[in-house]
Amino acid sequence: MPKTTTKFVCQQCGYESAGWLGKCPGCGSWNTLVETKFERGGAKEARVSGAARLLRLNDIEKKGLQRLSTEILELDRVLGGGVVPGSVILLAGDPGIGKSTLLLQTAAGLAQKTSPAVYISGEESAEQIKIRAERLGIKNQNILFLNETNIEQILEVLRKVLEEEGISLVVVDSIQTIWTEDLGGTAGSIGQVRESASKLINFAKIKRVPLFLVGHVTKEGGIAGPMVLSHLVDTILFFEGERFQSLRLLRGIKNRFGPTDELGVFSMEEKGLIQVENPSALFLEATEEEVSGKVVTCLMEGSRPLLVEVQALVLPTQLPVPRRVSSGIEWNRLSLLVAVLSRRAALPLSNFDIFVNVVGGIKISEPAADLAICLAIASAWSDKAINSHVCLLGEVGLLGEIRMVGQLKKRIQEAKRLGFTRVISPETVKTLNQTIKILLQAPQNSKS
Ligand code: TYD
Ligand code: MG
Repeated sequence: MPKTTTKFVCQQCGYESAGWLGKCPGCGSWNTLVETKFERGGAKEARVSGAARLLRLNDIEKKGLQRLSTEILELDRVLGGGVVPGSVILLAGDPGIGKSTLLLQTAAGLAQKTSPAVYISGEESAEQIKIRAERLGIKNQNILFLNETNIEQILEVLRKVLEEEGISLVVVDSIQTIWTEDLGGTAGSIGQVRESASKLINFAKIKRVPLFLVGHVTKEGGIAGPMVLSHLVDTILFFEGERFQSLRLLRGIKNRFGPTDELGVFSMEEKGLIQVENPSALFLEATEEEVSGKVVTCLMEGSRPLLVEVQALVLPTQLPVPRRVSSGIEWNRLSLLVAVLSRRAALPLSNFDIFVNVVGGIKISEPAADLAICLAIASAWSDKAINSHVCLLGEVGLLGEIRMVGQLKKRIQEAKRLGFTRVISPETVKTLNQTIKILLQAPQNSKS
């Protein structure tokens, strides 16, 4: 019988101690000691001598990845075409963003007539889940619910269900509420999270059942505890959005079975999460109206082009240091572009407050939107509207030159598809100055 003991191990330097210490005597870091389980002799006994086997690359059989559709197209897209049996997916996000809603909808999509989906919640009661399911209009009744937080109990139940009916999917909401008897410490502590998760992951891998783990993000932005799981799970998805806006974005951060740069777009409605198949339309508001300070650009989210509207407001400042306020654009990027506009396009912006916003709550992280941001500011400053059928693409360099952007063809295609008759890109303009001249200074173009 293997003997189990626990020790506290520093996650930085590996220092071991019999009890918990706030500061590691080994490396001096704070709060890095985590209770860890050790099995003496157990692992050795379990090994059969000669079981290790070398494989030549040539001889490895590829079984072809079987994927199951969740029936939620946007989720399938982010996963790389569906869920792979035996894969473990960590869904992280702020509390209240819609993780439980998404996974209940996923459970309904994956539960088969013959094998149920098992939804384990340590956070909500069966009644709460029932109310949510009714609100979402879930018809699939083959979802089993378990309100339990003890991992040993959970695994016992899962084994039984698997034997009797089979399981199409397991959801654990959330991993921070699950605890194991093997370790001390409260649920949610790093040791507890890691130990219970690895037990669940073991189950999923051996029985080839897909497993979703919910992880809450802490105030600091990291996934509390579960970030220690990042190397254990196959896929990490982030669910994000502003709480008071309906837009929700699902992003892959890590994916052993598919791409990581795909984006799933949802809208949180009265009846749950609705997929947004044509997100460009969502981010373009009242494009027909011509007002100054409004420009459209095309971003790439993975393989998906996304048209967004950038808005700017420029007003004389009342303060000694003018304000630069950005929403959806990195503040430093905005400052840089304002500097280029001042120096290279001779706009006297130092006496003006500048506000820039990206419509719809999306965040721009690629430089391809530079030209659009610059032109939105220039248009707002000169109070001249830019034709609403123009789409701007291009990175702006410090010299005021327009640089190439990736996947230009795809972006242009999307702009044309959505009715933008004129696309200004590094193929058509060379400098920022030239672009401003074409769009804002030539009288025939500014209002045409
Ligand atoms: P929830 O899935 O509980 O979030 P999480 O599990 O990430 O904490 O969703 C929380 C919010 O979503 C809640 O404030 C209400 C809202 N909501 C809707 O707007 N429509 C719906 O159909 C549902 C179920 C929730
Ligand atoms: Mg929840």
